[in-house]
Amino acid sequence: MTASDTPRAPLRVDRERLWRNLMRLKEIGGYDDTATGLRGVRRLALTDEDAQARRLVVTWMEEAGLRVRVDRIGNVYGERPGEDPALPCVLVGSHIDTVATGGAFDGTLGVLGGIEVVRALDAAGIRTRRPVEVGFFTEEEGVRFGTDMLGSAVTAGRIDLAHAYALTDAAGATVRDELVRIGFDGSAPEVRPVPHAYVECHIEQGPILAAAGVDIGIVTGVQAISWQRLTLHGEAAHAGTTPIEARADAGLAAAEVVVEIRRMCDSGTFGRLRGTVGTLALSPAQTNVIPAGAVLTVDLRNPDDALMAAAEAHLAAFVDGLHDRHGVSATWERMARTAVVPFDDGIQDVIAASADALGLPYVRAMSGAGHDAQEIAATCPTAMVFVAGEHGGISHTPREYSRPEACGNGVDVLANAVLTLAGPVVTA
Ligand code: GLV
Ligand code: MN
Ligand code: MN
Repeated sequence: MTASDTPRAPLRVDRERLWRNLMRLKEIGGYDDTATGLRGVRRLALTDEDAQARRLVVTWMEEAGLRVRVDRIGNVYGERPGEDPALPCVLVGSHIDTVATGGAFDGTLGVLGGIEVVRALDAAGIRTRRPVEVGFFTEEEGVRFGTDMLGSAVTAGRIDLAHAYALTDAAGATVRDELVRIGFDGSAPEVRPVPHAYVECHIEQGPILAAAGVDIGIVTGVQAISWQRLTLHGEAAHAGTTPIEARADAGLAAAEVVVEIRRMCDSGTFGRLRGTVGTLALSPAQTNVIPAGAVLTVDLRNPDDALMAAAEAHLAAFVDGLHDRHGVSATWERMARTAVVPFDDGIQDVIAASADALGLPYVRAMSGAGHDAQEIAATCPTAMVFVAGEHGGISHTPREYSRPEACGNGVDVLANAVLTLAGPVVTA
């Protein structure tokens, strides 16, 4: 038997340090959530909290020996050189921004996990043929500037840099100004060199793994996502004197939209459609004034592109009908739209082999949530490792929780997949 075919013990990461750092990062943007009584995380993209978290993660990258660069949309990459610098890298990563009511694991697991992969390679004295890079992408959540997976979509070339720079938050601040303000307006080209492969480790944020009794999922792809902002225009009038039949009540129309979306989901006509109105604001918002305006967001998800298109068309026709029924007109604004993204079979198999080598059972599942991986998949072979969450995998709430053992197992799977893809340098 030669050195090259001696079976190697699977790589294992330092799961105590991984957990410690997840808990430390959680305190940046930490807040006391009155709804749950738990400590949550509010770290919207490009805020002071995000900046502080970015600086800490960059420090951790540098302590792990990574060469850090920031690109023009604020994506951050740390590189561990390979034996052959001409070879494209194996990229891992995710995001460190959160929703306004987030938990400790969404996105951060893939970033801090990536740093632990590098540290585990170093600790084991393993060099790889290809470089390994750990990255985190700007505004994955889309909560502040309205477009999710923003940084990864820019680097993948789907969203133009100028368009991304001009997006504004609710107070009118632009992405560009906020990047400059927090000092993350980097100089590296936003369209990065094409990686050999991208692997993202992320919490599942759903119930499939827990129901199967496993810690690990291999993600087959991401379902289609449609985000739109709908503005309804009625007419303000006196609540006590205006006859019911003479009203143009934008609040009533908004309520009908909410109910119709639920009816569409329940109908089965649109397959496994999921629909959510997550924000709804009435104006002028006074007890005794009929609402003249309503602004709501519509989030639709569907694992079937044709059924997603049918659902969007149905909803548009329903909203058109509000004019005849209620005298309320509508304008739509597209916020985000992505098609179903299937992940690479070969990378999925590498992840499966890693889980097998570690003796970890897994299931294959499509992702219900959006991820940076769906954007990077347009540039190189890509797949994801999912880690099970507690309480049915609940996420985007401070109740989000994955056990330390599940996190460690997921990052171990990531580590061994990276090692296979980056190619260990074997010395006889
Ligand atoms: C990302 O978190 C999403 O909305 O799916
Ligand atoms: Mn995420
Ligand atoms: Mn999220």
